[in-house]
Amino acid sequence: MIIKKMADIKPAEITDPQIYRERRRFIRTASGLLLAGAASATLRPRLAEAGYGGQAIEGVRPGPFAIKEKRTAYKDITSYNNFYEFGTDKRSPALMAGRLKTDRWKVTVEGAVSRSADYYLEDILKGQVLEERIYRMRCVEGWSMVIPWIGFPLRDLIKRLEPHSRAKYIEFQTLFDPAQMPGQQRNVLDWPYVEGLRMDEAMHPLTILAVGLYGEILPNQNGAPLRLVVPWKYGFKGIKSIVKIRFLEEQPQSSWMRSAPNEYGFFANVNPRVSHPRWSQRRERRIGEFRKRKTLMFNGYAEQVAHLYQGMDLKKNF
Ligand code: MTE
Repeated sequence: MIIKKMADIKPAEITDPQIYRERRRFIRTASGLLLAGAASATLRPRLAEAGYGGQAIEGVRPGPFAIKEKRTAYKDITSYNNFYEFGTDKRSPALMAGRLKTDRWKVTVEGAVSRSADYYLEDILKGQVLEERIYRMRCVEGWSMVIPWIGFPLRDLIKRLEPHSRAKYIEFQTLFDPAQMPGQQRNVLDWPYVEGLRMDEAMHPLTILAVGLYGEILPNQNGAPLRLVVPWKYGFKGIKSIVKIRFLEEQPQSSWMRSAPNEYGFFANVNPRVSHPRWSQRRERRIGEFRKRKTLMFNGYAEQVAHLYQGMDLKKNF
């Protein structure tokens, strides 16, 4: 993994507009290969409707932790979504998310961190090697998928941002813009969508920020242009279309905790032994399969992550 000096992540304010425009077309990855840039990440509604994410990302290398299970069909991954900013049913995001403008995307970094600033996504990706990570994902509602993500370890970015030692948690926020995200005109959740991780979870090598899937730039309905993927946790931790990252001393309150604290906890680790108050979590339906499978502890990633929760009561810390 090549991590360039922090000087290579420029705060957005000081990016010369001319340089920015040129850079928009292509982002040079550390390996010298070209990655179709943010300009092409601006998805046409027509393409989003067809569940099509757009241009291929080049220079992606195979990452660790790939599983051998059959991948869920691209069509299912991109047309059966949860993205309440575009409606609460599974089909709406693919139909509605085309209107989201993902070019000139900025991410604000603040809190207990040395490099707090606004950054263009291009500058965050510059010099970053992208990997394919084939992960199981398990939604709290009882279905699952196998998704070949493209992304990079969140820990790489965290290290470059230089959090203070008192930062114990990291919080993420989705864009708040009801004009682009019509679902935000209704109070189904306390907007913007907020999620968080404990710092050791955020630094775990399984945790990635994704920018693509199936070799292509992330479709809007899957959280373009930047979303979190934490494969041992229920899908709702995987916050989409991130515009803010905050380093905190105290545990943040996620949107789902605020909306139903008895149903959704902060940790949200996949755990077949702890039922959701309204349904069991013992089994799951892999999208594209008929027979249900047994849900695995930590979604099958126990070997990698169980140590993070040693000594914790996972019934209380659900
Ligand atoms: N992020 C935002 N901003 N809004 C959402 O409604 N839904 C979550 C998560 N991230 C959601 C979100 C839930 S409940 C799930 S299961 C996953 O996104 C679904 O991701 P996918 O549609 O890419 O499969």
